[in-house]
Amino acid sequence: MKWHWEMMEIIEVTENKKEYLPLLLLADEQENMIDRYLDKGKMYVLDDNGIKCECVLADVGNRVLEIKNIATVSEYQGKGYAKALIDFIVKKYSKQYDILQVGTGDSPKTIPFYEKCGFIRSHILPNFFTDNYDHPIYECGVQLVDMVFLQRLI
Ligand SMILES: CC(C)(COP(=O)(O)OP(=O)(O)OC[C@H]1O[C@@H](n2cnc3c(N)ncnc32)[C@H](O)[C@@H]1OP(=O)(O)O)[C@@H](O)C(=O)NCCC(=O)NCCS
Repeated sequence: MKWHWEMMEIIEVTENKKEYLPLLLLADEQENMIDRYLDKGKMYVLDDNGIKCECVLADVGNRVLEIKNIATVSEYQGKGYAKALIDFIVKKYSKQYDILQVGTGDSPKTIPFYEKCGFIRSHILPNFFTDNYDHPIYECGVQLVDMVFLQRLI
């Protein structure tokens, strides 16, 4: 009998980022909105016997690093993968940046996750979802209107 011990690995993706489009769309359902940050952003994937989670980061100035997209493959959600990716980002970027921030919809599917990861609400961008998306976005039956920002010191 053969035994395999697979190691969790986090890999930077520098080309063919659209290979992960199905995962990117889980977090941001309109492809032309993803196109706004995908090329310039830094992308990482977490490989644990297959890709389980991805994230895209952007430098937004003033030593603030922003998570533009983060998603875990549906069947593997709730197993700590996204938190592991955030812990990796915090370690890797804590010297270069002061704040890690994320903008998200005001949704019970995402805000509690970020709060678990140590983020706290900082500000909102009014009407971001209604102004920038070509169709109404619903999460848990509620239409997303404002972008809610959460921040964590790193
Ligand atoms: C949000 C998302 C990225 C979280 O990824 P994940 O790998 O399932 O998260 P983790 O397993 O690392 O969760 C970390 C902690 O947050 C908690 N958590 C995650 N989602 C939660 C929720 N909706 N409500 C309450 N707690 C939640 C977990 O229970 C865990 O807590 P613990 O450390 O006490 O065990 C994932 O659910 C996802 O891909 N959702 C769809 C895409 C999306 O909405 N992305 C965000 C857009 S900005």
